[in-house]
Amino acid sequence: MRQNEQCCLDPVQRIPTAAAMRDLGRRLAGLLRAGDLVILAGPLGAGKTTLVQGIGEGLGVRGPVTSPTFVIARVHPPLTGSGPALIHADAYRLASIAEVDDLDLDTGPAVTVVEWGKGLAEGLAEDRLEISVEPDPDGEERTVRLAGHGARWKARKDKDPE
Ligand SMILES: Nc1ncnc2c1ncn2[C@@H]1O[C@H](COP(=O)(O)OP(=O)(O)OP(=O)(O)O)[C@@H](O)[C@H]1O
Ligand SMILES: [Mg+2]
Repeated sequence: MRQNEQCCLDPVQRIPTAAAMRDLGRRLAGLLRAGDLVILAGPLGAGKTTLVQGIGEGLGVRGPVTSPTFVIARVHPPLTGSGPALIHADAYRLASIAEVDDLDLDTGPAVTVVEWGKGLAEGLAEDRLEISVEPDPDGEERTVRLAGHGARWKARKDKDPE
C-alpha cells in the first residue's frame, strides 16, 4: 500500500459526483487486500455500485462492474499479476447476510464487496469495513461514512488522529 493512499481516506466524506465516487473507490482499493469484506449500505440508487466500479478499477480486475440483477454475486478476476479478484455481491434480495456465506464463494483470495440495501444485519463477519452512502435530499451530493470493525481494521483506527 502506498503511503498517500493510507492517509487520505477520511471517515466521513462528501462526494459531489459519480466520477468522484469512482475516484473514492479507486483510492479505497489501495487499502484492500485478499480476504477483506466490505459492506455497502444505502438506499436504492445511492451510488453503491458506482463505488464498486472504482474499487474494481483500483484493484485492476476484469470489468465491467454492473448491478448484478439476475445473479447474486459476480467474480471479477484480476487482469494481470497476482492481485486479488473482486467478488461483487448484491444482497438486496437476500434475507440475511448469512445467505452470502451459503453461496460458498471462495472469498480467501478475493476482496468481497456486498451491497446491502436494508441496513446492516446481525451476524456479520467480525472483520469488515462498513461503508454507508447517503444521498442528499436534493442534489447529487452523497455523504459516505467509513467504519472499520475487528482486528483487521483496528490498527488503522489507532493510527488515525481523531
Ligand atoms: N455523487 C454521486 N455519487 C454516486 N452516484 C451518483 C452521484 N451523483 C449522481 N450519481 C448517479 O446515481 C446513480 C447511482 O447508481 P448506483 O447503481 O451506483 O446506485 P446503487 O446504490 O448501487 O443502487 P441499487 O440500490 O439499485 O444497487 C448513478 O446513475 C450515478 O451516475
Ligand atoms: Mg447497486
